[in-house]
Amino acid sequence: MSENCSPPRRYCDQAATSWPKPPEVIAAWQRAATELGVAPGRGGYREAVEAAGVIEDARRVWARWLGGVDPQRIAMPATATLGLNIAIHGLVRPGDHVIATAADHNATLRPLAWLARRGVIEMSVLPCDRAGRVDPGDVAQHWRPATRLVVFSHASNVTGAVQDAAAIATEAHERSGLVIVDAAQTAGVLDLDASAIADVLVAPAHKWLLAPHGNACLWCREGVEPEMLVQGGTGLLSDTLDMPNAFSARHEAGTGDLAAAAGVVAADRWWRSQADGSVEPRAFAAGLATTCRRALEELRGVRVIDGGDGPPIVSFLVEHYAPAEVATALEMAAGVQVRSGFHCAAAVHEGLATPEGTVRASFGPFNTQDDCQTLVETVAMLVAAAPGSGTRS
Ligand SMILES: Cc1ncc(COP(=O)(O)O)c(C=O)c1O
Repeated sequence: MSENCSPPRRYCDQAATSWPKPPEVIAAWQRAATELGVAPGRGGYREAVEAAGVIEDARRVWARWLGGVDPQRIAMPATATLGLNIAIHGLVRPGDHVIATAADHNATLRPLAWLARRGVIEMSVLPCDRAGRVDPGDVAQHWRPATRLVVFSHASNVTGAVQDAAAIATEAHERSGLVIVDAAQTAGVLDLDASAIADVLVAPAHKWLLAPHGNACLWCREGVEPEMLVQGGTGLLSDTLDMPNAFSARHEAGTGDLAAAAGVVAADRWWRSQADGSVEPRAFAAGLATTCRRALEELRGVRVIDGGDGPPIVSFLVEHYAPAEVATALEMAAGVQVRSGFHCAAAVHEGLATPEGTVRASFGPFNTQDDCQTLVETVAMLVAAAPGSGTRS
């Protein structure tokens, strides 16, 4: 128990953002702020030059994380949301039809809906099943002469279900469409091969990759050139009012987040340092999610949502309790922090038949078996306190 008698914090909301970060990431993040503390690429003095190098190192890290793409085709917006907005607003043309999926996050569905409501585009949303998966064959069913883009989340942030990205991309490419993949929930979970599944791929650094907030990647295949959303200073060609032509400069106007980029480089080093260890961090987190899923499935009155072959996410419902009540009880009774509600992905809940949303637990490499067990025991207590309680036989 901590001083105020509340139970110790057990953070199980890694799908929202990872916490804690590896100590090396925090150290690099802090060093960039305290020892460098400059605007990268904006001066010729020592720290500014080093900072510019850190930014390019982070770009090369992303290129590796995306399966060996060309670093020059990567821009680093501050958030995945911004990257997705650049991709969507920068690629659609008036009159386009866009296909999205019900399993997508508001980071893509909201900009698309915004464009559709203003009559710029028309959109179709592919339905998903009870796990949050779409049928790639539905792309063909919804294709129209005006269809130009298919946009989808690689994995659902509500269920963890991974879409068959290669099949969806094939359907789109056979019809000369472009594919934007939101890899927010797979970067750091799966080995990505961006060029095999997408023309544009966006991912944040702060979730499963264990890097800080303030850095994300926007990768576009050569020849896929979104219009810029933002123009301004880049540190390059300052004597002209034209934006530079380089892909990254075109999408990185303004002073970049040096500390976050340093954290990305350190996170990459941390991941590589784990390669020889006895427990692979991704497998460990996946194991916790599996343990949690199986134990919750044993409790009568608990519905565990299907999915779960990708990020270590377990979404569930407890009979007689609203999702928010479960989340509050978990924190108050046991310090277990989970997310409840719609998880910024309202459309998926129709397919899941979860009109009030879900309780979502998600695990990372720094969670423990004890976190998992405490969560399950606390849910069991809630079940026991509800009418018709008991354990499945
Ligand atoms: C599937 C998905 N896409 C996009 C985002 C947006 O990421 P960010 O908030 O880091 O921009 C999230 C964040 O929760 C997400 O889960």
